[in-house]
Amino acid sequence: MSEFGEVLELLLAHRWLFQSPVTKILVDQVLDKFPEGWADALESLTIEELNAMVIGGLVREDWPSSLVQFVRKCEEIRKELSKDSFALDAGVDRMEKIPKELIRGLSEKKQHEALLLGQLTHEISEEEGLELIVDLGAGLGYVCQLLHHLFNYKVLGLESNPRIVATANNRRNTLYPLSRSSVNYSCLRVSEDSSGEIEKLVEDFTGDENTNFCLIGLHSCGDLSNNALRLFKEMNRARVLVMMSCCYHKIEWLEDETRFKNFPMSRGLQQELERLENFQGVREVLGRPFMRLACQEPSEKWQDMTPEDHGVHSICVIARGVLELFCHRNNIKLTKMRRKSARQSQCQNFEAYLRNFVLRYNFDGQPLDEKYYEEITQLWEENKSKLRLAEIYTGLQLLLQASAEYLVLNDRRFWLKEQGFSNTRILSVLDRKLSPRSHAIISSKTNPQFSECLH
Ligand SMILES: C[S@@+](CC[C@H](N)C(=O)[O-])C[C@H]1O[C@@H](n2cnc3c(N)ncnc32)[C@H](O)[C@@H]1O
Repeated sequence: MSEFGEVLELLLAHRWLFQSPVTKILVDQVLDKFPEGWADALESLTIEELNAMVIGGLVREDWPSSLVQFVRKCEEIRKELSKDSFALDAGVDRMEKIPKELIRGLSEKKQHEALLLGQLTHEISEEEGLELIVDLGAGLGYVCQLLHHLFNYKVLGLESNPRIVATANNRRNTLYPLSRSSVNYSCLRVSEDSSGEIEKLVEDFTGDENTNFCLIGLHSCGDLSNNALRLFKEMNRARVLVMMSCCYHKIEWLEDETRFKNFPMSRGLQQELERLENFQGVREVLGRPFMRLACQEPSEKWQDMTPEDHGVHSICVIARGVLELFCHRNNIKLTKMRRKSARQSQCQNFEAYLRNFVLRYNFDGQPLDEKYYEEITQLWEENKSKLRLAEIYTGLQLLLQASAEYLVLNDRRFWLKEQGFSNTRILSVLDRKLSPRSHAIISSKTNPQFSECLH
């Protein structure tokens, strides 16, 4: 498969699946945009078949050929993205040896992430003879402490939020006082220009300006991961990179140039975009909604979805769409009061959804006026026949998600290769049902074989 061309063409041809936020599904009349024959074909599927299409690429030969090709291409790209994987059970035997206090209070998801990233980092760093790890965006230092306790690395955690740094230091001093000299947390807002500061912090920590290290990041959000790649290039002492990204949609958008600062990064993708320039609006297609698609839940999320789960999910989608449509028609501005979104139990039917929604949102700065309830209920009645199609629409989005993420991650991999780091790979590391952003970009400046030695 060509690196970018086919993926770009797929995304361009199906932009209707991600250009509108799902909240605007009714305002933008997205459900009217299904290509000819798709809705009929998909509405006749059972829930089990729909799940199998989204997760396993099930197709039927009597479908429109454009739908068959879409599903097959999405599935091919999804498999391509995850073709190299780090064994999920790699850290399981280590789990037994982890002191309880090291994982106390950590969700199953966080334990899984910290353990697998820790194990991967160790396997690569050991092979390269590295004894120091620098963690960018270290948060509370879960991975840092783990890397020290399980494998005896010295670890420098860099974090921009001073309160988080203080808590990480406190946590270390209280729970693992013996690690004080080996695990250090410093406050630094890492940017593409931070190489000098990082090298100085490394020198202060190790007392040696020549210490080589492994640069890591677990769920480094937005531009932090792109900057990590640039810093890896800048700092000769950074010999290995292990980077797991998240929140692609938070990368910086240059308003005056109407493009992202750090996407595309590679000449490879840039050239492919130039080749497709005649394809109407290629650059607009790769904007913020595209990045949101790339960091959506992956298709595996549907693995255990029951018909009831789908029913509730589709109520949430259409009910939210109805409220957006109501506000759009009445020129009302919605503002969120509480961050938490509705729990599944609160969406069993439209009335329950609405009750919960009005507790969480203001309408033009006020609670919803009683006089509007009738209009909103009327809109629901007019649109509730779209529940099934809305569920199918979100399923098609999930199918396309891996293609968007493929483009983002391979752009970064390509950039590293273009800088001369030919030993660069994308590895699927985490269980996607537990942790949606599950891929790591790994790169080594020295060891051409490092990828062979992994689990
Ligand atoms: C999603 S959290 C992940 C934390 C940690 N790596 C983990 O997995 O538990 C991202 C962290 O990166 C920090 N961060 C974001 N941008 C940063 C930057 N430019 N420099 C340093 N830290 C940053 C945030 O404050 C946050 O603690």
